[in-house]
Amino acid sequence: MDNFEKSDSNIVINMRDVWKTYQTGEVSLTALKGIDLQVQKGEFTAIMGPSGSGKSTLMNVIGCLDQKDQGSYELNGIAINELDANELARIRNEEIGFVFQSFNLLAKLNLRENVELPMIYAGISRKERSQRAMEALRSVGLADWARHKPNEVSGGQKQRAAIARAIVLKPALIMADEPTGNLDSKSSHEIMQLFRELNEAGTTIILITHEADIAEYARRIIHFSDARIAREEDKTNVL
Ligand SMILES: Nc1ncnc2c1ncn2[C@@H]1O[C@H](COP(=O)(O)OP(=O)(O)OP(=O)(O)O)[C@@H](O)[C@H]1O
Ligand SMILES: [Mg+2]
Repeated sequence: MDNFEKSDSNIVINMRDVWKTYQTGEVSLTALKGIDLQVQKGEFTAIMGPSGSGKSTLMNVIGCLDQKDQGSYELNGIAINELDANELARIRNEEIGFVFQSFNLLAKLNLRENVELPMIYAGISRKERSQRAMEALRSVGLADWARHKPNEVSGGQKQRAAIARAIVLKPALIMADEPTGNLDSKSSHEIMQLFRELNEAGTTIILITHEADIAEYARRIIHFSDARIAREEDKTNVL
C-alpha cells in the first residue's frame, strides 16, 4: 500500500492547534488544549511533565492510537484526519515503532518471533522475516537470545527486544512512553544509549519520561503542563 501522498519535506510531525477531550459519563476532561508541535526528521525529543498533564494522550494522538477532536495533524506528510481504520493500522505498523514501559512482548513467542510480528502484518515472507528479525536483534546486542522467551530474559533485555521490534520495519518515528519506567538505573542508561545510537544513525525519536537524567539524552525537551506545552529546551546549539 504505497498510495499515500507523501511530501518530501523533512517534517515528521506537523501538528497545529490540536485539541482532545475525554468524555466519561457527565465529566469531560480536556487533555490537549491547542497543541502546536513540529518535529523534524532526525530529532531526539523528550516530553516531560506532571502526571495527568496530557503526555500519553499526546503520544496516542501522534501514534494514531487515538484521534484528536480538533486541529490538523500530518505524520510524515500524510494527513491523518483523512484515513480510515485500515490505513491507520498500516501507518501505525509501518511508520511508527512503539516502545512501552511494560515492554508489551508476547509471552508465548520467543524474542525473534516477537520481533517478526510487525513484518507478518506487513506481509513480508517468512525467510526475510527471520533474517531481518535476527539483524534487528543483533543490532541491539541480543543475537544470542533470539530463542529465549520474554520471561527468560532480564527487563533490560526485554526492552532491547521491544526496541528491535520497533525498528525492524525502519519506521519514520520511534515513540517511547516511559521506556525506562520498569528498569533499574544501569539498564535504563543502557537503553538510553541504544536510543542515542539509533538517533545518531538517523532515527527520529520521541520519548516520554518523568526522569530528568533520562530526558537529558534528548536534544530537545518539551515540558507539558495542564494539557499545554509550557516551555521547551533545545540543546542543539549547546553540544
Ligand atoms: N481514556 C481516558 N478516558 C478519560 N480520561 C482520560 C483517559 N486517558 C487519560 N485521561 C485523562 O486525561 C488526562 C491526561 O492523561 P494522560 O494519560 O495523557 O497524562 P500523562 O501526562 O501521560 O500522565 P502520567 O505521567 O501519569 O502517565 C488525565 O487527567 C487523565 O485522567
Ligand atoms: Mg502517561
